[in-house]
Amino acid sequence: MTKPASTTGAGLRDVVAAPSSICFIDGEKGILSYSGYNIHDLAQHSTFEEVVFLLWNGRLPKRNELDAMNAELVANRALPPGIISMLKSFPKSAVPMDTLRTAVSALAFYDPERSDNSLDANRRRALSLTARFATLVAAIDRIRNGKEPLDPKPGLSHAANFLHMLNGKEPMDVEARAFDIALILHADHEFNASTFAARVTAGTLADMYAAITSAIGALSGPLHGGANEQVMRMLLGIGSPDKVDKFVNDKLEAGGKIMGIGHAVYRTEDPRATHLRKMSEEIGKRQGDTKWFDMSHRIEEIVVEEMNKKQKPIRANVDFYSASTYYMLGIPIDLFTPIFAVSRISGWTAHVLEQLGNNKLIRPRSEYTGEMDLKYVPIDQR
Ligand code: COA
Repeated sequence: MTKPASTTGAGLRDVVAAPSSICFIDGEKGILSYSGYNIHDLAQHSTFEEVVFLLWNGRLPKRNELDAMNAELVANRALPPGIISMLKSFPKSAVPMDTLRTAVSALAFYDPERSDNSLDANRRRALSLTARFATLVAAIDRIRNGKEPLDPKPGLSHAANFLHMLNGKEPMDVEARAFDIALILHADHEFNASTFAARVTAGTLADMYAAITSAIGALSGPLHGGANEQVMRMLLGIGSPDKVDKFVNDKLEAGGKIMGIGHAVYRTEDPRATHLRKMSEEIGKRQGDTKWFDMSHRIEEIVVEEMNKKQKPIRANVDFYSASTYYMLGIPIDLFTPIFAVSRISGWTAHVLEQLGNNKLIRPRSEYTGEMDLKYVPIDQR
């Protein structure tokens, strides 16, 4: 039998894998909305907590509903002491994303409803995971630096409390709001690699911890959430604005990729990058040093221009300007991707809940391109 030629597009681009009412993207027009609300409106007017409610419930909350959910988030922020002891036992050199993945998996041990995979139990789990992710990431950083983790502060928003637990001081309002907007922008993005990984795992009826652990693994890769760290390492490696042009041109000529640029779905500006670009510039101006913004902007200009010439119109994605934004907020580089997870846990859990609400095992087929009907040859005759 002859081998069939492969007709399957690599990477499942543009394949619609399932219906979903959580997130909409129009990659041609650069539109992103959560449950019908445009990301620009949400970034301008909403809060991360309100967006979490929206993703889980498909509608914006009334005041009393938001207050009740906030109270639950605050009540669930603390980590089980066993998790703190476990974090302390890890090597100080452990990569935070690996520590997060392992700790989230271990959270399953401390779930009093462990054997209950009902939707109600999973909604409670979604809430406690979302509340705890921020505490976990801050604790991971403090413990590896030989410090005790700080208790969450009930009066602070999710964003402000995270920065407080990380830095040991309450952030300025403007910093807390910048971080809050970054959390809103990263909260969901339909069937991206990590969300799809979470849905595939949840679809087997494995528990939510297994699904979220799968998602963290997928997010850690440099082609997905790991790109923001790589962008900052690139900026630091380039060092100064006068070296940008040569670096980028050499890289593109050698066929290399510039991290934080390009997207599997957007064919125009990633609407999240619009906000992060502005944020990066504003923080730089406020701090009296726009070097990282200026370098990023120049890199973007060159890549866009060069790739346009080659008829490959690519633009900055969400990771490009989040790198300089986080760096200027004083966040360590290897926490950039865990921070992505602090936000994306809301979207992951929303998708797991949606998957479980109408579950079907996700099991695609492959297009076989290997040999057929070969005759088995005993090992000594090969
Ligand atoms: N730098 C240079 N060239 C790039 C590029 C980048 N960051 N991203 C894409 N290209 C090139 C591709 O190599 C491709 O060229 P080819 O046709 O000669 O192979 C062309 O642009 C079109 O790529 P496209 O089909 O739009 O991208 P993709 O769907 O294959 O890949 C990404 C999407 C995100 C994986 C890719 O853009 C990338 O690796 N970006 C850097 C990593 C990153 O920022 N990831 C975070 C995503 S949110």
